Amino acid sequence: MVRSLRPGPADPRRVGPVAHTRDSIAAAVEAVIPGARSDLERLVRIPSIWADPAHAADTEASAAAVAELAGALNPANLQILRAEGGAPAVVAQWPAPEGQPTVLLYAHHDVQPTGGDEHWTSPPFEPTERDGRLYGRGAADDKAGVMTHLAVLRAYEGKPPVGVTLFIEGEEESGSPTLPQLLREHHELLAADVIVIADAANPAVDVPALTTSLRGLVDVVIDVSLLERPLHSGVFGGPVGDALTALTHALASLHDEKGEVAVPGLHANTGTDAAALDIPEAEWRAEAGLVEGAELLGTGTLAERIYHKPAIAVLGIDAPSVAQASNVLLPRARAMVSMRLAPGEDALAAREKLAEHLRAHAPWGAQVTVEHGSGVAEPFSLDANGGAYDAAKRAFSEAYGTATVEMGIGGSIPFIAEFARTFPGAAVLVTGVGDPASRWHGIDESLSLSMFATGARAEAFLLDELRR
Ligand code: BES
Ligand code: ZN
Repeated sequence: MVRSLRPGPADPRRVGPVAHTRDSIAAAVEAVIPGARSDLERLVRIPSIWADPAHAADTEASAAAVAELAGALNPANLQILRAEGGAPAVVAQWPAPEGQPTVLLYAHHDVQPTGGDEHWTSPPFEPTERDGRLYGRGAADDKAGVMTHLAVLRAYEGKPPVGVTLFIEGEEESGSPTLPQLLREHHELLAADVIVIADAANPAVDVPALTTSLRGLVDVVIDVSLLERPLHSGVFGGPVGDALTALTHALASLHDEKGEVAVPGLHANTGTDAAALDIPEAEWRAEAGLVEGAELLGTGTLAERIYHKPAIAVLGIDAPSVAQASNVLLPRARAMVSMRLAPGEDALAAREKLAEHLRAHAPWGAQVTVEHGSGVAEPFSLDANGGAYDAAKRAFSEAYGTATVEMGIGGSIPFIAEFARTFPGAAVLVTGVGDPASRWHGIDESLSLSMFATGARAEAFLLDELRR
């Protein structure tokens, strides 16, 4: 029971929470899973890649589909929110029975690009079951989160034991650039005592986790100019360099000889308790698919490196393709550099350190500009103690039949820090139904169907635990 939460506004339609037994809740969840799974397939068929303007209409369609599914559960309030230029977010509310807290259930309906449909075993937007897993882009990240919340609301027949605000955003994979504005403009609407973010992973199938730390994320585009125009590489090559090589020098300066991030002044949490949590290296390497002989970068335990230290990667370069290459010295080249940030870092300050480092390391007097992307995800960490966390641990352990573990993730969810800043009193529970084989953002993304069913049961138990 959570006693520290303030009571939510009373819903005149509700007399009080309906008493359920755990068995009846579990049975109700089991009964709705087949329908939830087929609606998950319906959502996966919509290529809601908000980051790609060609898929803007699909992202609208995906928000409309989510709104339709939520609308069928008799919410007191259903809206599609958007800020200027932002993606559609769905909000639906089931106000709290008298004296009960309000829980905000978060997930996102936008997905990553496919990385090349031809590489997938089955087409990314045709959900396909193999060996107990549902394959498709968004099957795990994060349409599974969307459908987990809806399955729970269905199991309670649209009358959850606590107040529920369902908030499904549409631009998480783009760094949620307009989310701060949505939170400002709809502050009252989104206020909650507890927030459940179903967008994270678990250490193994059917082992429940609460995620207690996430890295932040920033990116910059470095643009290097060396010449006014392309030059014959034989006539001028030697004394005159090319912009792409100059760019690669700047990029190569981002790591030292051990593969450790070399931008000075970045924050790292070494020697933390969580860092002691061991990740078995052999299994992890196999999951990562490193080629024979490939070395791991950096120093420290794997958990330290993935959860508690910064990481830098080059995500794209604008330069001629090999097929289009000709014998000219390139005047200009650009690259997008992405940096993950350790909990405790200040995202904007870190981004400036990265930009400064790149400017300082471009060779040969090249002209360099560094511009930043629109999305910023602050890192986040929390101490999972207190009423709501205890409730979650009890609910999850009971639903899964095994103890709940606390874990970090190396990925980022911009909403979390933003929400916590806006509503400092709210408890933040980061959950989800992903597992290490889910291949987030990769080829052949998938969801364990058993994890989906158990995760929905766990969340239904959680709402019951949060009832006073
Ligand atoms: N759901 C992921 C975060 C995640 C990844 C959790 C792996 C657990 C395991 C989330 O949708 C995501 O990918 N976020 C982006 C955020 C970014 C665009 C600010 C990320 O981390 O790249
Ligand atoms: Zn996600």
